Amino acid sequence: MLRPYDDIRPMIGLFDSGVGGLSVLRAVRKLLPSHDMIYLADSAYCPYGPLPLAEVRARSLACARWLVAHGAQLVVVACNTATSAAIELLRSELAVLVVGTEPGVKPAAEATRSGHVGVLATSSTLGGARLATLVERFAGGLTVHTVAAPGLVTQVERGELTSAYTRKLSSTYLKPLLGAGCDVIVLGCTHFPFLRPLIAELAGPSVTIIDTGPAVAAQAARLAAGQPSGSGALRFATTGEPSLVAGTVAAVWGVEMAVERAEC
Ligand code: DGL
Repeated sequence: MLRPYDDIRPMIGLFDSGVGGLSVLRAVRKLLPSHDMIYLADSAYCPYGPLPLAEVRARSLACARWLVAHGAQLVVVACNTATSAAIELLRSELAVLVVGTEPGVKPAAEATRSGHVGVLATSSTLGGARLATLVERFAGGLTVHTVAAPGLVTQVERGELTSAYTRKLSSTYLKPLLGAGCDVIVLGCTHFPFLRPLIAELAGPSVTIIDTGPAVAAQAARLAAGQPSGSGALRFATTGEPSLVAGTVAAVWGVEMAVERAEC
């Protein structure tokens, strides 16, 4: 079995249902290039969107515990759906710091001129109490339009960032938001930043796209401040089939990386 960095205890652990959280990892690495990190894609259970809430909670806890067992002292939930379902549970069950990822309603509210903001996310995130709280706190007086986007996560997992079908699905989901006059669109799923060029092209230059990866990274960097860094090592692991996931990691990350099998 491929275990290239077994001697390293990575300080920061990130997980997502699949490769989407690599968009968060990218932002975290930019701010903390010399911290050792481990990324877990829960590919065997991807996508989380259609799963019952109890299962998303159970999977989130299993992934976070696996990261802690592999050395993580800071866990980044690089998934909006897992954050919405399980962040309180993770914070109560784990003895390490936990950072979540939530749709960027606040920056969207600050950026809109039309007063109409769109959020693209899984139905689970859109129906969660945490999003309702964000809207209440930061988007009072604005109209927030939400669209669940089933199928797009799978397209990213297939590495199909620009295919005709991905374009068609994206266009279908954007249509009601653009039709309602949204001039800001929040990418409320960590898979979607990989579709950002396509979404930006379809939405047009007058629409601002918000990705919360950099804000999550800033929070992770604040919490990691003062902790010993490392050599910038990076481990990828998956609960799915490593050879398949390695192909997608290469497609979205842009570099071929070894992917380990995680049992959790
Ligand atoms: N990246 C996850 C998120 O941010 C995708 C959800 C899914 O697996 O359905 O919500």
